[in-house]
Amino acid sequence: MNPIAGKNIVLGVTGSIAAYKAADLASKIHQAGGIINVVLTPSACQFITPITFQSVTGRKAYVDADLWGGESHVAHIGLGHNADLLVIAPASANTIAKLAHGIADNLLTVTALAAGCPVLLAPAMDGDMYLHPATQANLEILRLRGVEIIGPGEGHLASGLIGKGRMVEPAEILGQIRWMLSQRGPLHGCKVVVTAGGTQEPIDPVRFITNRSSGKQGYALAQSALDLGAKVTLITGPTALAAPHGVCQVDISSAEEMLRAVLAETADADALLMAAAVADFRPVNVSHQKIKKSSRINSISLEPTVDILAAVAGQRVQTGYPRRVVGFAAETQSLLENARAKLNAKKLDLIVANDVSAPDAGFEVDTNRVTLLHPDGRVQPLALASKNEVADAILQIVVEWLQV
Ligand code: CTP
Repeated sequence: MNPIAGKNIVLGVTGSIAAYKAADLASKIHQAGGIINVVLTPSACQFITPITFQSVTGRKAYVDADLWGGESHVAHIGLGHNADLLVIAPASANTIAKLAHGIADNLLTVTALAAGCPVLLAPAMDGDMYLHPATQANLEILRLRGVEIIGPGEGHLASGLIGKGRMVEPAEILGQIRWMLSQRGPLHGCKVVVTAGGTQEPIDPVRFITNRSSGKQGYALAQSALDLGAKVTLITGPTALAAPHGVCQVDISSAEEMLRAVLAETADADALLMAAAVADFRPVNVSHQKIKKSSRINSISLEPTVDILAAVAGQRVQTGYPRRVVGFAAETQSLLENARAKLNAKKLDLIVANDVSAPDAGFEVDTNRVTLLHPDGRVQPLALASKNEVADAILQIVVEWLQV
């Protein structure tokens, strides 16, 4: 369901030292399954050669000679008309000015005029050039025309100065491309809330109780929902993972914080996917000072946390939102019986039963072996699959629910 696969993407490269990073971006788009046509401006060819792009994409890279050469007058029309997305990275101040004013004096700017598809620019230039009123005015013209602009970031510039003007990193541009190409997906206009990771229940300022959840399945669900065009809020406990591009991230730590975030975010949500491993117990007393070794503490009293899905079920009765709820059951024994009991008790539309004692499923690993249980008694076992594939299968069910 990766929205880049099979899409026609024109990557324009202009004259900036960041052109070397464009080769990495071209490679990443190619690896994601995009059909990529690179167009270099004459200035870009001062920094990098077409052969570099041909090597990483396996396709011809276009230069101005192609405008007047073999394919002559049709090259730019073909490139522009067939594109699903035009990305210009790096976009120099000069090319930004030309695009703003419709100037078409090289293959890339002619292609841009012929293209009816969405456009993404990743500006790269010296800080003063970026801040110049002319550049700012040109960017504003393009923004008002619906062009997406990513960055520039702050940091060391080729001039030796530190400031705003660095092209954002290829991985982030790739995330934005993925997000832009998903916008016409079947969940466009739907809000999906995903919870992920484990919660942390404090004992004192330096210690807490937590669990082995890595957050991987929740983050994969968020990415799948984004790929289908949904507006996604990811409520997450602390993890080592990077949030998928385009997600609205809400960081929480304790079960209590997650409860408040879930109730607030699902008040207008179409679906809640509750993949988080919420702590079931928390210390009754939280010490405000670090508990010293000399205190010889030998037990910690615990009390239950609120069951978030039970609270969501209460909210649903009152307001009807979230419209659909998916729960997850982490079990080490009697998988299906325990999962079905949770499906009923928590009033879910689907539960994903997960044997976390298996070495290739559950916490920390990249694969999962789950069984989907429906309220009507249907039992749908899925083969061992990556967490991304499991996420895609769950989101297919969400699409069926929300499209009727
Ligand atoms: N869950 C929740 N609030 C809690 C604990 C769990 O909303 N305080 C949610 C989880 O996010 C998951 C589902 O309930 O979607 C089942 O979680 P699980 O840990 O498998 O079950 P528990 O309800 O905690 O029951 P038990 O620990 O006894 O298995």
